[in-house]
Amino acid sequence: MTRTASLQAAEIEQRITALLERMSLDEKVGQLTLLQAGGGHIPEHLREDVRAGRVGAVLNEVHVDTANELQRIATEESRLGIPLLVGRDVIHGFTTVFPIPLGQAASWDPALVTACARVAAQESAACGVNWTFAPMLDIARDPRWGRIAESLGEDPVLAGQLGAAMVRGFQGDDLAKPGAIAACAKHFAAYGASESGRDYNSTNVPENELRNVYLPPFKAALDAGAASVMTSFSDLDGVPASANTFLLRDILREEWRSDAMVVSDWDSIRQLAVHGFTEDDRSSAFEAARAGVDLEMASTTYRDHLPSLVRDGRLTESRIDALVRNVLRLKFRLGLFESAQTDAARFAPAASPSHLALAYEAAVGSAVLLTNRDWALPLDASTLTSLAVIGPLADDPHEQLGTWVFDGDAQYSRTILDAVRAHVGDRIDVRFARGVANTRSRRTDLIDEAVALAANSEVTVLVLGEEAILSGEAHCRADVTLPGAQQALLEAVAATGTKVIVVLMTGRPLALEAAVPHAHAMLCVWHPGSMAGPAVSDLLFGVRSPSGKLPVTFPRVTGQIPIYYAHKHTGKPVTPESYIHQEDIEPRAHQVSVGNTSFHLDTHYTPLFPFGHGLSYSHVEYEHLWSSSGVLPMEGRLTLGVDVVNVGPRDTVETVQLYVRDLVGDVTRPVRELKAFTRVALARGERRTVEFTITPRDLAFYGRAQRLLVEPGRFHAWIGGSSTAELRTEFTLLDHATSA
Ligand code: BGC
Repeated sequence: MTRTASLQAAEIEQRITALLERMSLDEKVGQLTLLQAGGGHIPEHLREDVRAGRVGAVLNEVHVDTANELQRIATEESRLGIPLLVGRDVIHGFTTVFPIPLGQAASWDPALVTACARVAAQESAACGVNWTFAPMLDIARDPRWGRIAESLGEDPVLAGQLGAAMVRGFQGDDLAKPGAIAACAKHFAAYGASESGRDYNSTNVPENELRNVYLPPFKAALDAGAASVMTSFSDLDGVPASANTFLLRDILREEWRSDAMVVSDWDSIRQLAVHGFTEDDRSSAFEAARAGVDLEMASTTYRDHLPSLVRDGRLTESRIDALVRNVLRLKFRLGLFESAQTDAARFAPAASPSHLALAYEAAVGSAVLLTNRDWALPLDASTLTSLAVIGPLADDPHEQLGTWVFDGDAQYSRTILDAVRAHVGDRIDVRFARGVANTRSRRTDLIDEAVALAANSEVTVLVLGEEAILSGEAHCRADVTLPGAQQALLEAVAATGTKVIVVLMTGRPLALEAAVPHAHAMLCVWHPGSMAGPAVSDLLFGVRSPSGKLPVTFPRVTGQIPIYYAHKHTGKPVTPESYIHQEDIEPRAHQVSVGNTSFHLDTHYTPLFPFGHGLSYSHVEYEHLWSSSGVLPMEGRLTLGVDVVNVGPRDTVETVQLYVRDLVGDVTRPVRELKAFTRVALARGERRTVEFTITPRDLAFYGRAQRLLVEPGRFHAWIGGSSTAELRTEFTLLDHATSA
């Protein structure tokens, strides 16, 4: 913190103290209450609540006049004039919709993620919103879980860096400046580990894994200044997050010394009783307040019971003051006491050309080229004779936006069909068929029409995947193959002999083992947002080259889940020699245990597409991996470098990734862990040296005593274009400082 910042912080604490001295207990509890707004009108009960100081924050109000009127009532008509927090789920854009967070993560581009969050902040701030419920930092290793779409993927380092980038975008360098909104690191914690990928389910994550995998992105976002934290719906090792003293007090407040405001998730304090953790609402309020949830979302157990819990001596008033302090601090930081009114005229119009241009860049940057047999892509528009665009997602302005787009306006959406037609002009008649009514439909009656089109087309662009509603909160799937009759559609189209380009619009990794052989190329564009069409069209025709890399592993079959690159080695790791498919086992084979290793009999042990994978229209080779020294002293640093050479036919952008393995640890360590990455632009034929410098801190992990350790010993390091990079070197971390 700079000196000015710490003076400002001290002044804020003094102002809070002065305010607390003037507040009644009921007014204090009012500040801990977050209620649903009317959305364009103010219900009488809310007006009364705001006036009486019985509510400190509202959510889901995006009409600027209504938000201003609520703020006016709060600041002019309530006794103490305390302004309101106005929260909204601004998850991946507002009016302008950017790719879903999982798609943005595929860009591996923090600057792009910051830019998208910045625009989303400005568009929502223009409507009176001052607080978003993002970024979601739940490590997601289970594609069945619908909320994987909202996540930044499976890796703590990638999710941490991109989460921090998102925080910087929402908040800017000063929360009080117009256009900045407070971020919320959610859902604290381990929600992504919901059993069987079923939303709201229990999580059982050992403390060591919690600390090494699930918590680091939250720490990174808080270090970047995230102003608030949201508790998770789930229970962790039997204790629901909204009453979890270990998470909220021991970790957040004591270990991390965070003063971010903690908000419950929707109704999750009342649900403590539904979990069977508390008897009734009164005990729920008690447990949540004791654990340190500052603000209660949607339910009113605080308002209904905290005053009497204090009067009965079960909670001290100073406990309540501590919660109120965290809420007021955020309001001061947002500058709301100086001005809570929004002047919409000061903001650029929503969905302006520059916002849509950014949405286009983000959609281009998030696309991952999964396969490209015989360079099927890019297409050459000048020689193409006929083109069919088929699929339920090719021309649907709404579905391309993805989940959590309350404010996304589909009138700004440009679809793939539109953009492809615009690109090829009148020269080719681009024909369209849906093929199936929607992505879930099992009916096959529309397939014949699609096949007829494909049969007469040199190339068919088949836009398959999932509608928006198949992912996101509460939208989990037990089988993550292509839903409905889409596999049948794909096979029927491929059987015509047309060149099949599959564009995959999806909110999660799909198990595509059966689909891949039928496609000449497969481009995963996630739910790309408003500018899906121009982005995909430019990628198909080679105006732009794909550069995205997978932020999450794609399984072959659903039964492999959870499958992620940073798994443990086990005591019986699989090897190519020990692997056998069940079809290759001799009849009446006897059971043996010697030589058995860790794999499934009915599928290969590798994923279909590994974490970090992504092709481009060029080809990059990695050569000469080196390290500045074979040893890394405790106080020192080590540089690892590699030559990257663009040997392919075009300019390209490559995301170079550094992975490390700690060979022996106080606890078993993952087979690889991402430590650093960087995006490098390479002209055709260009060779560049890429360097990463690491320090012992980068190698730290939590050991058996749940303390951060930097353990001397041997490490392997790989640099390459995915988590299966082969170029390897090794180094030793010394247990003492030496001159390198
Ligand atoms: C979700 C949160 C969201 C909140 C408010 C909940 O159901 O879990 O992520 O921010 O609703 O809309």
